[in-house]
Amino acid sequence: MMKIGVLISGGGTNLQSIIDTVHGKSGEIAVVISNKADAYGLTRAKNADIPAEVIVENDCADVDDFNAKMIDVLKDYDVELVVLAGFMRILTPAFIAAYPNRIVNIHPALIPSFCGEGFYGMRVHRAIFEYGVKISGPTVHFVNEEADGGPIIAQKAVPIDDCETPEAIAAKVLEEEHKLLPWVVEQICLGRVHVDGRRVTIDRV
Ligand code: GAR
Repeated sequence: MMKIGVLISGGGTNLQSIIDTVHGKSGEIAVVISNKADAYGLTRAKNADIPAEVIVENDCADVDDFNAKMIDVLKDYDVELVVLAGFMRILTPAFIAAYPNRIVNIHPALIPSFCGEGFYGMRVHRAIFEYGVKISGPTVHFVNEEADGGPIIAQKAVPIDDCETPEAIAAKVLEEEHKLLPWVVEQICLGRVHVDGRRVTIDRV
């Protein structure tokens, strides 16, 4: 079974979707790392008997040290696939080089719209609401050195013309995130995902 490391910063509902759908089936979550000591996702890991570690940036010498500490933990647990599930930090080139095309991120908008530096969490949904966008939805992509710029693995269009607040958009998109992310992680664990430059293909079975 492929060993997965999940990085979180908050509530961890996407982590929960991987625990429920993938963990112990097509893959094994070997460790959860949070950069916030009070992230509820840590409780979700504990409830599922998954080892969890907290690495806080302020306790590290600098951002390189922060990233190096995360890599050390991932290597300790023999992690082969890293999943960013609501992780609100940008990884350093050294981290990305340690896992080429082996880091996936979920972004709560249809990349290449409303993405890149500064677009994370509710900021994304507020910008989408203010712009008057009618269709949004999650994107799962491989991580490269450009923020939210790596090869796209899967997307799901979500009509949001009935949403009257940014919070309503977030809730509707999140519901689809919980299906899309575990599905992608499962496809990777089963060896069905192939990358050719920016083009990603998934074997149909
Ligand atoms: C999710 O909506 C995820 O797409 C987003 O943060 C939320 C985390 O929720 N991620 C980003 O904005 C990353 N740029 P969760 O902690 O409940 O999974």
